[in-house]
Amino acid sequence: MQQHLLILLSSSSNQCLSANSDCAYSYAYVSNDTSTSGILVEDVLHLITDDDQSKAVDALVTFGCGKNETGTFLEGAAPNGLIGLGLNNISVPSTLARNGLGPNSFSMCFGSNVIGRINFGDNGTSDQKETPFTVEPSFPTYNITITQINIGGVNVSQVEFNAIFDSGTSFTLLSDPAYTFISESFNSHVTEKRYPSDSQIPFEYCYYLSAKQIPSTPTVNLTMKGGDQYFVTDPIVLFSTQAGYFYCLGLLKSEGINIIGQNFMTGYRIVFNHDKMVLGWKASNCYNDSNSQTSPTNSSQSPALAVNPKSTAPSSHSPKMKAFTYALVMLLVSFFAIV
Ligand SMILES: *[C@@H]1O[C@H](CO)[C@@H](O)[C@H](O)[C@H]1NC(C)=O
Ligand SMILES: *[C@@H]1O[C@H](CO)[C@@H](O)[C@H](O)[C@H]1NC(C)=O
Ligand SMILES: *[C@@H]1O[C@H](CO)[C@@H](O)[C@H](O)[C@H]1NC(C)=O
Ligand SMILES: *[C@@H]1O[C@H](CO)[C@@H](O)[C@H](O)[C@H]1NC(C)=O
Ligand SMILES: *[C@@H]1O[C@H](CO)[C@@H](O)[C@H](O)[C@H]1NC(C)=O
Ligand SMILES: *[C@@H]1O[C@H](CO)[C@@H](O)[C@H](O)[C@H]1NC(C)=O
Ligand SMILES: *[C@@H]1O[C@H](CO)[C@@H](O)[C@H](O)[C@H]1NC(C)=O
Ligand SMILES: *[C@@H]1O[C@H](CO)[C@@H](O)[C@H](O)[C@H]1NC(C)=O
Ligand SMILES: *[C@@H]1O[C@H](CO)[C@@H](O)[C@H](O)[C@H]1NC(C)=O
Repeated sequence: MQQHLLILLSSSSNQCLSANSDCAYSYAYVSNDTSTSGILVEDVLHLITDDDQSKAVDALVTFGCGKNETGTFLEGAAPNGLIGLGLNNISVPSTLARNGLGPNSFSMCFGSNVIGRINFGDNGTSDQKETPFTVEPSFPTYNITITQINIGGVNVSQVEFNAIFDSGTSFTLLSDPAYTFISESFNSHVTEKRYPSDSQIPFEYCYYLSAKQIPSTPTVNLTMKGGDQYFVTDPIVLFSTQAGYFYCLGLLKSEGINIIGQNFMTGYRIVFNHDKMVLGWKASNCYNDSNSQTSPTNSSQSPALAVNPKSTAPSSHSPKMKAFTYALVMLLVSFFAIV
């Protein structure tokens, strides 16, 4: 089980020497020694509107065709490629917005069965919870501020800290003091016997579980800047071995960078709104909430990133919004290729 931090660290992509030559790009990621370089290519992204009309929409996007990959890309990360969803203007959501296809905002939904959805042009709903992004111009990321940690109904810390919401990271990583506040407080509420540390498992806090037992996990709530509560619906990771079952708090200790990864986004439609520079979240099972009624894709199918061919989603959005939301269905595990 390996964690890849595919957060863009630096990029250069304006090296077009002449109108007839290839344009070079190079990207470096937060994971050690992980980079890609090559040439820029243009292609068409086929999307459909996320409404009852399921109208086809084609959008020109630019992406990097990698020629030289290093680091975790050589160890199996992202075999199907990466989609740029960042704040910079070359990202897919920024490009679609610049082409007039809708608000510069998109949403991702993380279902419980490793299937999810991404909707471009989706700026959420007025009843979602929100917190502002704090962006460093030199390193633009979806950086938010957590003001309080509440475990099992107890406020365990008032220490403010920042974390990046990153869908390209599978498990949440926090540095101290937040890591210790959460894990020790979580541990103090758990009644199951502690599972000994195991070099195969990256998590520190693990517990035995009998076959039909439901883990006695405490609630994990984060208070975001502005006061809205972010309830972590699925803080644990279950394991089954020949010897039996155990589960772990799905949190890794980091030195420095704090990342809210995919596992802490489960159960939500997370809105990354570039126009308003806010993160939004609302409970969702990805398919049959008011925004969408698409059936989940069969998870044994192989396309990592595909236009959902069967979207019949009636939308509660205004007619204007309807035409502006485009859906892709993805299989998160193979899409982000993090194992
Ligand atoms: C990156 O590599 C350096 C030198 O090899 C090492 O000291 C450091 O711990 C590594 N960092 C991470 C996050 O793996
Ligand atoms: C590939 O990229 C790495 C990292 O930037 C660089 O050190 C290496 O020289 C490059 N290799 C080739 C063949 O260009
Ligand atoms: C993107 O941003 C860069 C740097 O700010 C700028 O040079 C470039 O023209 C922008 N590209 C587009 C397509 O807006
Ligand atoms: C979404 O964008 C539309 C139009 O750009 C705006 O009217 C609406 O208030 C926005 N909704 C949210 C929740 O930001
Ligand atoms: C996140 O924002 C805080 C507060 O502005 C800043 O100190 C920190 O460097 C930012 N982190 C990243 C990774 O951008
Ligand atoms: C956690 O957050 C949820 C959602 O905001 C809220 O309903 C619940 O009361 C909170 N739980 C605790 C123990 O604070
Ligand atoms: C925990 O902190 C929140 C937000 O600061 C506050 O509203 C709440 O009353 C506190 N709860 C307890 C049990 O102290
Ligand atoms: C949505 O689906 C879930 C699980 O499939 C089901 O329990 C729930 O009742 C459905 N909700 C609606 C509004 O259809
Ligand atoms: C998924 O597709 C496979 C192969 O087409 C099929 O055998 C399986 O029953 C399907 N599973 C579900 C849940 O539909």
